[in-house]
Amino acid sequence: MKADGLAAGKGVVVAQTVAEAQDAVREMMTEGSMGDAGRSVVIEDCLVGEEVSLFAFCSGETAMLIGAAQDHKRIGDGDTGPNTGGMGAVSPPRGFDRAAQEAALDLVVRPMLKEMVRRGTPFRGVIFAGLMLTETGPQLIEYNVRFGDPEAQALLLRLTSDLLPALSALAEDRLDTTPVTFSDQAAISIVMAARGYPAKPETGAVISGIADAEALDGVRVFQAGTKENAARELVVAGGRVLSVCALGDTVQQARERAYAGVKAISWDGAAWRTDIGARAL
Ligand code: GLY
Repeated sequence: MKADGLAAGKGVVVAQTVAEAQDAVREMMTEGSMGDAGRSVVIEDCLVGEEVSLFAFCSGETAMLIGAAQDHKRIGDGDTGPNTGGMGAVSPPRGFDRAAQEAALDLVVRPMLKEMVRRGTPFRGVIFAGLMLTETGPQLIEYNVRFGDPEAQALLLRLTSDLLPALSALAEDRLDTTPVTFSDQAAISIVMAARGYPAKPETGAVISGIADAEALDGVRVFQAGTKENAARELVVAGGRVLSVCALGDTVQQARERAYAGVKAISWDGAAWRTDIGARAL
């Protein structure tokens, strides 16, 4: 049951029984528990399964698979604690190989693109389909028209051609003439966050070890919430500070490499999940 208006991220009740669902609708619609946001509600099937993110370059009716990744949205190990922007991603997710990803594009992306063309509003850009892999197949939760973070860091490590020509070709509608290639390797991104994230991240701590991490085999570090202070030191300047990413021949290898990179980096209050990619093994 979803309040159909803006509810600061608190407008959803995942009901386990019909009675709970009825209570939620009554509270929202007749008791006004969500204010005006809950005067009308959206009722959807409760989806059970693994949530994955599927990415494609799209232009007109053409969708070119980039790949899929699994985000880890909660702050704590074992998917505990509050939601975040994403604490790490692994690609590919377990049980969702390229054949299954292509099948999912056929099911939820290509028909949408076709309909956009039919309406005279063709789409061109990156589609990020949020899917639930249920027992009866993939179900669409949402479309985003952008890359995901921290999914992009893992996925783009697997790009073996250049990104810029691919994006130019996409913008100029000549994707079919520009080879875009991806490796079959596994990739992982692990977010290192500031103490207090997501509620109240502490900023200002001096960061060390990024060069040491990047000297490790297959490891890349992408900075996000960082800046240089007056003393020209690199310091924490946001909640999700950086992501340590690695490629490997297997998820296991990528994971070991990325966590070795995490160990090399430090600042006072650095926090990260220790189970990124565990479900993909
Ligand atoms: N990682 C989820 C998102 O970018 O929306």
